[in-house]
Amino acid sequence: MIKVGILTMSDKGARGEREDKSCEVIKEMVKEIGGEVKYYKIIPDDFDVIKEELFHCCDRLELDLVLTTGGTGFGPRDNTPEATIEVIKKQAPGITEAMRMESLKKTPKAMLSRAAAGIRGKTLIINLPGSPRGVRECLSVVLPVLPHGLEILSGRGGECGKE
Ligand code: MTE
Repeated sequence: MIKVGILTMSDKGARGEREDKSCEVIKEMVKEIGGEVKYYKIIPDDFDVIKEELFHCCDRLELDLVLTTGGTGFGPRDNTPEATIEVIKKQAPGITEAMRMESLKKTPKAMLSRAAAGIRGKTLIINLPGSPRGVRECLSVVLPVLPHGLEILSGRGGECGKE
């Protein structure tokens, strides 16, 4: 079982002015890898709030995987990647490179997501775009590889040497 946290960054969503459809997509998709959502919250795009929530998910809840949605673009309130980069200890650039590479085949606007990914303790954090479509397209790229990555991260091993 993979312990998953979902954080939706949205000023409107946090005020109750927008329905969070992206989290529903994440909830459905993580089931494919045995993910169980242990924590979910819609939060405003405040840099410090995002950081606090990420600390909570990694250090107190000790989740295996935290998926964020939203706040990765060019808007003045898009703070998710910067907050994530301050929280992580190790970057995982291959994950965001793969998401952007595959997404660019679907829309050139994929280059506008500044999503980051990385590791804090035994938690992997991955930023996803805000739209349900963006979430689906990006998560489908990385999902098949996550069980292996998380197994290694947890220290339980993971056989990499096989042909
Ligand atoms: N990536 C995929 N795969 N599909 C998309 O539809 N939308 C893009 C991009 N990444 C998109 C995508 C758009 S339009 C923007 S503005 C950025 O993600 C940032 O989105 P965010 O600010 O909601 O995080």
